[in-house]
Amino acid sequence: MNVVILAAGQGKRMRSDLPKVLHTIAGMPMLAHVIDTARQLSPARIVVVYGHGGETVREAMAAADVAWAKQEPQLGTGHAVLQALPHLDPSRPTLVLYGDVPLTRVDTLRKLLAAAGDDSLGLLTVLLENPHGYGRIVRVAGAIQRIVEEKDADDAERAIREINTGILVAPTAALARWLPTLGNRNAQGEYYLTDIVALAVQEGMPVGATHPAAPWEVEGVNSKVQLATLERVHQRNLAEALMEQGVMLLDPARIDVRGELVCGRDVSIDVGCVFEGRVELGDGVAVGPHCVLKNVRIGAGTKLQAFCHLDSAEVGPQGQIGPYARLRPGTTLGADVHIGNFVEVKNSAIADHSKANHLAYVGDATVGSRVNIGAGTITCNYDGANKFRTVIEDDVFIGSDTQLVAPVTVGRGATLGAGTTLTRDAPPDQLTVSRARQVSVAGWKRPVKKKA
Ligand code: UD1
Ligand code: CA
Repeated sequence: MNVVILAAGQGKRMRSDLPKVLHTIAGMPMLAHVIDTARQLSPARIVVVYGHGGETVREAMAAADVAWAKQEPQLGTGHAVLQALPHLDPSRPTLVLYGDVPLTRVDTLRKLLAAAGDDSLGLLTVLLENPHGYGRIVRVAGAIQRIVEEKDADDAERAIREINTGILVAPTAALARWLPTLGNRNAQGEYYLTDIVALAVQEGMPVGATHPAAPWEVEGVNSKVQLATLERVHQRNLAEALMEQGVMLLDPARIDVRGELVCGRDVSIDVGCVFEGRVELGDGVAVGPHCVLKNVRIGAGTKLQAFCHLDSAEVGPQGQIGPYARLRPGTTLGADVHIGNFVEVKNSAIADHSKANHLAYVGDATVGSRVNIGAGTITCNYDGANKFRTVIEDDVFIGSDTQLVAPVTVGRGATLGAGTTLTRDAPPDQLTVSRARQVSVAGWKRPVKKKA
């Protein structure tokens, strides 16, 4: 089939300079969700009708392989689909979706397409307790006759509870016949796509209705409140899918997945965590409360305590991270590595069984195995203009409050005394210490405040 996605509306009620369809659900523009859904149907063409916010929308979606049709000015949904017509393959049916209806399930669309076939008109409709504002499905003896918009409806029509979601599939050749003939003599002065229903009936074309499994599949976003509502629906769905796979969520209402979260067996995730990009958690990983993980891989059995922030890092198995640890891009940790509170690691590799448990900065460093990095240790990697590497070989012990002025190497098995400022390489297996000799001054008195 062809897919047309309507995305030209302004979305005044969002009260934002950002075009409505670029507002995000799970960190991804609503329009990108709809394009993703469409793509899963393997359509011949995807055409996005854009207008308001024009080039911003196109630029934001530059990576999406779709055709664009500009609608300027926006004269209604019928006029919008008409703009897409030149891009469509007339031999296949056309499915119409909406850039501000982000959560429609692919299965529902497959059902709609299958029911409609190649030469009938298929509508996605729902029964609502409160149908106010929607187009109503007018049936006679059960057969769909036409759609009437709320603003054009009489009292009897307004009492109809079956509403038009807007999503429909139609034979493209029929659209090419119908759309140019639509008029705009209605309450809104618009060219209504919904008027094609009566045209199909006039031609004797069968018109059918399919229903979504859940109402949120067809809910649109017109305001920040509705955006937040669908965000919660989507997050609940993602959380349920994780739990179905066996992931333990301490509270499924308090997790945010903005990308792809892949979990092994017996993973547990405490409340308030945010996952962005692609995150992989190995078997038995435990993520403590309020951690933020973006593009991260974590090996089996590793525990993250509360309030860790990890970005573009790889953590080996059996590690202990946090609380309050920060792993920045380019960090690779081996097995059984401990990174404790207020330790920042950037663009560094730390090998198996090494530990930096308190208050340290490890940047642009290569750290061997079984290294102990004492509290307050800093790699001075930056001279104000250039960055340099620090190399710490296996079995090194670095005393507290040490500065390693890069480029510098600490040889295998070396010990650095506490408070050392290392500016030259430290030889292996020796104690290196750079510190003023300790003196005690006998008879020294503390100053006392002078009387005025
Ligand atoms: C439309 C339907 C209505 C249905 C409702 C479901 C028509 C005439 N009415 O009404 O039956 O119940 O959706 O939400 O179709 N758009 C364009 N270009 C335009 C006009 C609209 O791209 O010129 C896009 C909008 O960005 C929006 C969508 O089409 O995503 C629907 O437009 P909107 O004006 O909100 O239609 P409704 O009045 O809600
Ligand atoms: Ca609408």
